[in-house]
Amino acid sequence: MGQKRIAVVGLGYVGLPLARLAAKKGYQVYGIDNNKNKLEKVKKSIDPITNQTLKEKIIITEPAKAISLSDIIIVCVPTPVNEKCMPDFRPLISAVKLISENLKKGHLIVIESTVNPGVCEEVVKPIWEKSGLKAEKDFYLVHCPERINPGDEKWDVENIPRVIGGLSREGLEKAFEFYSSIINAKITKMSSIKAAEAVKITENAFRDVNIAFVNELAKSFDNLGIDILEVIEGAATKPFAFLPHYPGCGVGGHCIPVDPYYLIEEAKSKGFDHKFLRLAREINDSMPDYAVELLINEIDKIGEKIKYAKVGVLGVAYKGGISDIRESPAIKIISKLKNLGASVTVYDPHVPERSDVKNLGEFLQKCEYILLATNHLEFKSIENLDLQNVKVIIDGRNFLDKERIIKKGVIYKGIGR
Ligand SMILES: NC(=O)c1ccc[n+]([C@@H]2O[C@H](COP(=O)([O-])OP(=O)(O)OC[C@H]3O[C@@H](n4cnc5c(N)ncnc54)[C@H](O)[C@@H]3O)[C@@H](O)[C@H]2O)c1
Repeated sequence: MGQKRIAVVGLGYVGLPLARLAAKKGYQVYGIDNNKNKLEKVKKSIDPITNQTLKEKIIITEPAKAISLSDIIIVCVPTPVNEKCMPDFRPLISAVKLISENLKKGHLIVIESTVNPGVCEEVVKPIWEKSGLKAEKDFYLVHCPERINPGDEKWDVENIPRVIGGLSREGLEKAFEFYSSIINAKITKMSSIKAAEAVKITENAFRDVNIAFVNELAKSFDNLGIDILEVIEGAATKPFAFLPHYPGCGVGGHCIPVDPYYLIEEAKSKGFDHKFLRLAREINDSMPDYAVELLINEIDKIGEKIKYAKVGVLGVAYKGGISDIRESPAIKIISKLKNLGASVTVYDPHVPERSDVKNLGEFLQKCEYILLATNHLEFKSIENLDLQNVKVIIDGRNFLDKERIIKKGVIYKGIGR
């Protein structure tokens, strides 16, 4: 194969690792993004997420030029929801318009952004066809939903299996050939682009629903005095038909708390009400408040008041080991605590710009009550530190060793334990 050219539109958590991988595999890769700071960094070979050196060459040039010079264009722009939890297609539509203005015969266009079933055919394709070119005759449209799991040391963009769906067999085969040349994992061809769109939404709705189920159990078991972790571990001894999920102080990130709404709204527009998915969203969205309620209960029990409490929140990122704070439950927790009048100190070694202190030692000096919102490994060391000032720890991720914390004379309360 001669050196093929690809353009990646949207150099974020999804697009950048993909662009790097394609460059590593010998493609000439153009990067397109509407964030100028990001582009400047990539131009200087700096990873805008980690600030580390980018070993791979990603060419930054005029977007129009990058698109017209490329054989394959891959769209990795965000697909968020607005404040009313309605899908916000503006980034996708603007990326698609940019491509349509520079579309040429033979282009293979892949949408990796998460979208609900129907978006590629009903939103994306018509924009391109306005340019006069016909889908599957003049250009090919494929959906290959991204499954990357930031912070995961085992599964990365190179070894995660993928599914692809195309508008036509020819487009599907072209995309299959491309992805086979960069990833070392199974690629499953779906019968339609709509089925591929539905796969990704199903995966994330599955996570959301199962987490909501254990979150509900956690609330119930708190009333019944049962330790949910012990129960989940017990249930997981069944070698079939049980898949453990864990409760916590909320679900964050750009996918799980967002993607179900894409299906909910699409189904609603076609006359179907996804009661189950709506309930899962409601339960998971209630968890930051629930974690704060647990803290208030413990403070009340020792005869003190939340409005005079010095509360430390450990973690701002939505999950351990990463710096992404999108939809993070910690943000809701911090704001709720502040609204209740508590004096709040925040520490997240991965998000220094949102931290009030520089290290755990300084954090512990300032706090009487701790709410752990993120399971960063660094927070484990709290079990070995002096907790003399600390009266209560609410472990929003059931992450700390309960017995060790209690032995230090601190009241420990997890989510459902
Ligand atoms: N983050 C994840 O873990 C993950 C996993 C699987 C799938 N996804 C999906 O992948 C997509 C991208 O997510 P992400 O986390 O990489 O988002 P991100 O915000 O990290 O990155 C998106 C990038 O696109 C850029 N952008 C926005 N609009 C643009 C436009 N019109 N033209 C050019 N660039 C534009 C932004 O500046 C940003 O750099 C979403 O649909 C998301 O649901 C994300």
